[in-house]
Amino acid sequence: MATNTALNLRRLRQNSLIRDLVCEYRVSVQQMIQPLFVVEGLQNREPVIGLTGTYRETPESLLNTIEQDLKVGVTKFLLFGVPAHKKLCDFDSSFTERQIQSIRKCFGKEVFLGVDVCLCSSTLHGHCGVLNAEGDHIENQDTVDELVQVALRYAEAGADCVAPSDMMDGRIGVIRRSLDEAGLDRVLLMSYSAKFHSKYYGPFRMAADSAPKGNLILKDRATYQIHPACPRDAYLSSLRDAEEGADILMVKPGLPYLDVLSKLSQDIQKPWAVYEVSGEYAGIELMAQHGLVQGPAAHVEAWTAFIRAGASIIITYGARFAKQYLEQFQS
Ligand code: PBG
Ligand code: ZN
Repeated sequence: MATNTALNLRRLRQNSLIRDLVCEYRVSVQQMIQPLFVVEGLQNREPVIGLTGTYRETPESLLNTIEQDLKVGVTKFLLFGVPAHKKLCDFDSSFTERQIQSIRKCFGKEVFLGVDVCLCSSTLHGHCGVLNAEGDHIENQDTVDELVQVALRYAEAGADCVAPSDMMDGRIGVIRRSLDEAGLDRVLLMSYSAKFHSKYYGPFRMAADSAPKGNLILKDRATYQIHPACPRDAYLSSLRDAEEGADILMVKPGLPYLDVLSKLSQDIQKPWAVYEVSGEYAGIELMAQHGLVQGPAAHVEAWTAFIRAGASIIITYGARFAKQYLEQFQS
């Protein structure tokens, strides 16, 4: 005879079929974007420490990787081009443009191709913009002028989406207007609008060759990225970018900023992306290598948290494993 201590909430947790029925969120590979790195002058592709399955690709291996990714359901990409020759201004984006063209030529409209727009892989010093003569300030206007040219060239080369990650003021509006005036009004603009000054970008900076380097006065990105303790700054930055014409907004990193994602995605009615950055991703992978966590299941847990917090798009180095991991661990 059942008593009032009988199962109540546990009734709906008793097996995976029932759990499937009542779960409130479902993650799918269709909402994921796979980052890709392509490096000029590289002879053989190189693995990236901590980012299992991610390589610094050559122009040839890049196309093979995309072909493999398509087979496992990944259709959306975010390309990072790493040019060989670094400069201080008048940047040459032609290497990345050629990669965009070759992806388009190979895969047509089978793939959605977003391209990161920034200068940190192109500058001698590794900052995301143009440094002043004294070396103590990133010049906002000079940087935006350069970024607009890069964004236009990527869009002309065939990008479906350009994604400025530099954090300069006013770049979204200027890029939107320039795209529209050039007849590229169908190209999406995804803003890294809530990009924090995080310590979790380490593996990426090795992959993209983009860490601030040399004997600089400005040693880090604190004067342009958002301080971890300033969620209001993230709100204002996202609101501003939405008003300037961003189609998609972003919180980056993911797990350490779930509160920001949750609040901003409720307050600002735009599609929200979250970037599960290299350090968060590598953290899970490195723990898994030591037997401290079940890697695939832990990734699924993180992705579920992003969707629960309000993201509709997840940018993750694990997109290419997602189908397999989700089938196994989602219920
Ligand atoms: C730089 C940029 C960064 C990332 C993407 N674009 C980090 C940075 O150096 O500030 C981070 C991505 C990651 O860590 O996975 N514009
Ligand atoms: Zn940058």
